[in-house]
Amino acid sequence: MTVLGKVDSSNLNGGQKLAVKYFTVALALFGAQILFGLLAGMQYLNPDFLFGILDFSVNRMVHINAMVVWLLFGFLGSVYWLLEDESGVPVVGLKLGNLAFWILTLAVVVVVLVYLLVQVGAGTHASIWLINEGREYIEAPRWADIGIVVCVLVFFYNVAASFTKGRYTGVGGVLVLDLVALAGIYLAGMYYTPNISMDQHWWWWVIHLWVEATWEVLVGCLMAYGLMVTLGVRRKIVETWLYIEVALMFGSGILGLGHHYFWIGTPEYWFAIGGFFSALEPIPLVAMVVHAVFDAGHHKIRSTNHPALAWIIAQAFGNFLGAGVWGFMHTLPQINLYTHGTQWTASHGHFAFFGAYVTMVIAFFYLAAQKWRGDVWMSGGLIGAWKWKWALALLQIGMLAMTMALLASGYEQSQIERAVGGSSWVGYFSAQGHHWFIQGMKWRQIGGWIFTLGFVLLVWDLMTIGRKETQPAKSLAE
Ligand code: HEM
Ligand code: HEM
Ligand SMILES: [Fe+2]
Repeated sequence: MTVLGKVDSSNLNGGQKLAVKYFTVALALFGAQILFGLLAGMQYLNPDFLFGILDFSVNRMVHINAMVVWLLFGFLGSVYWLLEDESGVPVVGLKLGNLAFWILTLAVVVVVLVYLLVQVGAGTHASIWLINEGREYIEAPRWADIGIVVCVLVFFYNVAASFTKGRYTGVGGVLVLDLVALAGIYLAGMYYTPNISMDQHWWWWVIHLWVEATWEVLVGCLMAYGLMVTLGVRRKIVETWLYIEVALMFGSGILGLGHHYFWIGTPEYWFAIGGFFSALEPIPLVAMVVHAVFDAGHHKIRSTNHPALAWIIAQAFGNFLGAGVWGFMHTLPQINLYTHGTQWTASHGHFAFFGAYVTMVIAFFYLAAQKWRGDVWMSGGLIGAWKWKWALALLQIGMLAMTMALLASGYEQSQIERAVGGSSWVGYFSAQGHHWFIQGMKWRQIGGWIFTLGFVLLVWDLMTIGRKETQPAKSLAE
């Protein structure tokens, strides 16, 4: 029998049990991401810090690879979370799915250890296979790449076979098609060529077409499900929005790829294509924000899981601001000429990844916490509700502080290094030494500490939320 407020795996279905395993590893890797981000940030302020022991290049690499991997773990977990609800049948091939989880986790641990232990050396064909593929964000060596592909195929089999056996909802259909694209594009990042322009050309297929097309569609599906369970929004409404968003997203995001082809040796027509289509990319993000706000208003925000809903709303705004507005700012080639590769880019990178993806995965963490504790009522008036509220506030404030600090430094670089210094060597160093740049780096670090505090509180909250609650969550759909 379900005991309210007590963590018990028998409250979960098979897919959800696997989901909480993915969520646990995701949370641990999120912690690792933050730790290595803090170290890299400290090295900006004091370049001698850990030099020769844990170099900036290594910290940065672990920081961003951990981010990609933990978000993927979070997505896989979220899909397993909703799979049985949506398809109406127990996950097909769950045993294999469990095995894939352990293999994937083991591979990630080995890869991180190799990154930390083998920091310098010649790049050869052997090092591509065994140590590092050298492509930012997806640096895993090829053996791990192949392992990842196999595990993702198992995941895909679980998802597609379950929907096929049960029923295909609109969310299910979009999800399956999106996963084909998401997995297929990953292969482009494994292609090896010594030509750096060609290498970058294919590498962007993974990075851009992931975050600005296939990942966006994936979170669109998660958002649709999230709105149905937290607000009881009708399926017809969320699925109609989902189709519109997918059409707009692919319409602008695919050719928007051109905004990475301005300066890497690709043909000049990319200036026009990239500038035009990527400028349209904020439109689907506006649609998403309108959708969430409209639904929340329409249902007068009656929800049984306030923290999850708060993070879903944070996603709608974060996605629009971090990806849409911050991306739009530097996407026209006339502007990108000055901002390319400055802290301006890092400001957008942090805000977008956090706003669009971290938020949605945290919302699913809270959905999981609720059901794991026997489906307790989780409101703003919960005992210990200050924890989820402060975790939310500190993470948002920390991220905004980092984003703004990086933006200030980015402006300074665009001005001093590019506009005044003409992108010269001297210009680069006068920008790096400028007190506005250094101030920006200091404020980023302060934002980072605030963010870290928020993370600690988040973990604590996820472990304890709803423990003393005795009211059951009433189903709003009824
Ligand atoms: C959630 C969606 C998005 C995420 C996670 C994201 C993330 C990033 C990241 C991490 C980078 C830096 C890549 C590097 O290391 O060089 C980047 C670059 C860029 N992004 Fe986004 N982005 C998103 C959406 C957008 C959108 C919608 C636009 C345009 C409207 C945009 C425009 C750009 C541009 C122009 C660059 C190149 C910056 C440069 O030249 O240095 N992004 N993005
Ligand atoms: C304690 C908090 C954090 C600190 C101190 C921090 C610090 C850093 C530093 C120093 C870099 C290297 C920048 C460079 O090469 O110039 C970096 C890169 C990056 N970080 Fe963070 N970070 C933190 C949290 C996060 C979070 C939460 C995310 C997103 C979920 C994130 C996403 C990224 C991305 C996408 C890049 C690559 C940006 C680019 O190349 O444009 N970081 N971070
Ligand atoms: Fe892009």
